Amino acid sequence: MNYLIKLSVLLLYQFFSVNAIQLLEQSSVLQSWETLTSYSQAREWPNLSRNRAIGIRTQRDVSENSTLEYTIAPGLDLNTVVFDSYGYNSDSLDKFRTLMNVGVQSFVIHLYYDEINQNWLMCPKDKILEQMNSKNYTECDVSTFNLTSIVSTLNAFLTDTNNDLDINLMFLLLELNSINFNTNQTIPPNLTDSGIQSLGSIFNSIEKVVSPLNVDNNALPTLRTLLFKLSQRVFPVVIDNNLSPNTSYNLSDDKYTFFTSLDSNTDASVTFNVLDMEIKKEDDVECQTFQISFDNSSLHFAYDTDDDPFTLQSYWESIKCGYSPIINHSFNNLSEITQFLEVSLWSWAPYQPTQTGINELSISDIFNNLTNRGIPYYVSYLESIRNYTTVFMEDSANNSSDNDNGDGDDGDEYSNRCAVLSKIGWIATSCDEKFYAVCVNSKNSSDFVITNDKKSYSKSIIECKSIDGDYELTVPANTLQQYYMISLIPSGEDVLWINLNSLSSENCWVVGIDSTCPYQAVVSHHIFVQMITPSSVMGFLLFILFLVMQFQQLPVHRNRKYWRKLLNEKLKNDYDGVPS
Ligand SMILES: *[C@@H]1O[C@H](CO)[C@@H](O)[C@H](O)[C@H]1NC(C)=O
Ligand SMILES: *[C@@H]1O[C@H](CO)[C@@H](O)[C@H](O)[C@H]1NC(C)=O
Ligand SMILES: *[C@@H]1O[C@H](CO)[C@@H](O)[C@H](O)[C@H]1NC(C)=O
Ligand SMILES: *[C@@H]1O[C@H](CO)[C@@H](O)[C@H](O)[C@H]1NC(C)=O
Ligand SMILES: *[C@@H]1O[C@H](CO)[C@@H](O)[C@H](O)[C@H]1NC(C)=O
Ligand SMILES: *[C@@H]1O[C@H](CO)[C@@H](O)[C@H](O)[C@H]1NC(C)=O
Ligand SMILES: *[C@@H]1O[C@H](CO)[C@@H](O)[C@H](O)[C@H]1NC(C)=O
Ligand SMILES: *[C@@H]1O[C@H](CO)[C@@H](O)[C@H](O)[C@H]1NC(C)=O
Ligand SMILES: *[C@@H]1O[C@H](CO)[C@@H](O)[C@H](O)[C@H]1NC(C)=O
Repeated sequence: MNYLIKLSVLLLYQFFSVNAIQLLEQSSVLQSWETLTSYSQAREWPNLSRNRAIGIRTQRDVSENSTLEYTIAPGLDLNTVVFDSYGYNSDSLDKFRTLMNVGVQSFVIHLYYDEINQNWLMCPKDKILEQMNSKNYTECDVSTFNLTSIVSTLNAFLTDTNNDLDINLMFLLLELNSINFNTNQTIPPNLTDSGIQSLGSIFNSIEKVVSPLNVDNNALPTLRTLLFKLSQRVFPVVIDNNLSPNTSYNLSDDKYTFFTSLDSNTDASVTFNVLDMEIKKEDDVECQTFQISFDNSSLHFAYDTDDDPFTLQSYWESIKCGYSPIINHSFNNLSEITQFLEVSLWSWAPYQPTQTGINELSISDIFNNLTNRGIPYYVSYLESIRNYTTVFMEDSANNSSDNDNGDGDDGDEYSNRCAVLSKIGWIATSCDEKFYAVCVNSKNSSDFVITNDKKSYSKSIIECKSIDGDYELTVPANTLQQYYMISLIPSGEDVLWINLNSLSSENCWVVGIDSTCPYQAVVSHHIFVQMITPSSVMGFLLFILFLVMQFQQLPVHRNRKYWRKLLNEKLKNDYDGVPS
């Protein structure tokens, strides 16, 4: 009897499991997506997501030798996006901080000069009059919301991120306006007595502010020179001067503080450092097809409007053309900005480099599904992708069965440690996969060729060297190079090896197979400092004891892997030291 029940259960089980396998296959794609997006910026809001923190850092490091005109510094208009929606009060200061935390690097700020009282204010005239009439001053109260509090919020962020891991460029783009109140109006001092008479003295108090005296506008510095040699990072730029012609404010007093994008020939008040800037409406941006460098040394920004807001596609396009996108339309909820942030890197594809073990390339229909999730769409590209994914899936199935350990891809620990270039950006994948690779001529930095054979990452390095001439595996250093190299992807192929890996330490992406993580030193020091406190010495001894005991229990052949895993675990929180 008992036996019969067991048998029927077994039969029922087998019958259902056939269907279950089919179901599982469908749901595993779904699960892959769920896992992949579980670290997305939308989920992690208001914190910076871990993969974006790593992505932003890699992008900065890879472009260190590019001059600033190639910089993409995604931005927004603080007045339109934040103050108008969340109020001209301290609530907005928190939002400002959140936006900096999640990687917004450019901010347009409108400043208002009260011509009578001669103070700089944050509020436009109609807002002040509205508050005056309401009498309870929930906004525009200068004792809680003023230019000094904006700068303090900024400085707090700068202090927290003034380290090799997190430092990055910022732009403050200023629009100056005059306010002329009617002489018969008495505006309460709570709304107008900000005590700020000089813009220069406020902006000079910004930490690591870029001084016009240090920058030659005709030859902008490289990102590395600016951040690490000059140790400066915030550009204050006057992009619009609407002060009345009869203004009592003397802007030329601030000429050693500000840059300006304004033309001194047409604006007589501009006597200071002109920074070449192209600031366009997003639909006026024209992308030169596969241009590899800009012809002039100017900074490029593209903004949208409420009537014609950025779509993900146009946002993506502006980055691709080398223009930093400035969002100038309001959101129902500020967290909606995360969908744009997810596509705001010119380098990595969305959700990359992933913090999960999932190889994004192995998900079938990957590019279609990115589209489903609001990622820009490449119609002409889709068909070839479909063919590719099928082949790729078979290919990787074959690979996993014979499993030669070519590049030390040794299970979970070493998955997704090398990067390929795809049309949607870089994707972290297994170093053992075989692809064509993009090589650069060491004697001519605009001469790129594709290898003749598909090889693994490490063999592709040799493959580039074997090409006639002096070629080596390369990595795009800026958005223009990126899109130029994308144009070189052979038809029928979807990705190319680039010279970027995180083999030396997880989450630390470096150029070249022999390179080690530059942040290791910082980290070791950090660990050392922690170790020398008595309690951690005790902890360390216990840790050793624990290891010894573990060893005794483990079969010998697993020790090596176990060690590495354990160490990885131990070190993770330190050298990954990613701001959360
Ligand atoms: C992926 O895209 C295909 C085609 O658009 C769709 O049928 C499928 O449901 C999508 N899967 C997920 C997980 O979104
Ligand atoms: C953001 O980070 C803080 C501090 O690390 C943490 O307490 C909080 O839970 C995080 N929020 C989210 C949504 O992850
Ligand atoms: C930048 O240039 C320096 C000096 O030439 C070089 O050592 C470094 O590897 C370069 N960085 C990148 C990312 O190519
Ligand atoms: C500006 O705002 C800060 C608070 O953010 C406040 O401490 C300071 O006193 C204000 N300045 C003036 C002149 O009221
Ligand atoms: C205006 O400011 C004064 C002193 O700063 C304060 O005592 C008063 O309560 C403020 N008025 C309002 C309506 O906030
Ligand atoms: C300056 O010009 C504006 C109009 O542009 C006018 O309203 C204002 O009264 C003038 N101020 C002075 C002090 O002349
Ligand atoms: C994809 O495959 C289909 C049929 O296998 C073929 O007709 C089509 O031309 C292929 N497309 C590309 C871009 O290779
Ligand atoms: C994978 O292996 C099978 C059988 O060994 C073979 O028929 C198939 O062509 C292989 N696929 C690829 C892409 O090499
Ligand atoms: C460098 O390579 C590019 C692209 O192949 C070529 O157009 C250019 O003439 C080369 N420059 C030199 C100096 O050889």
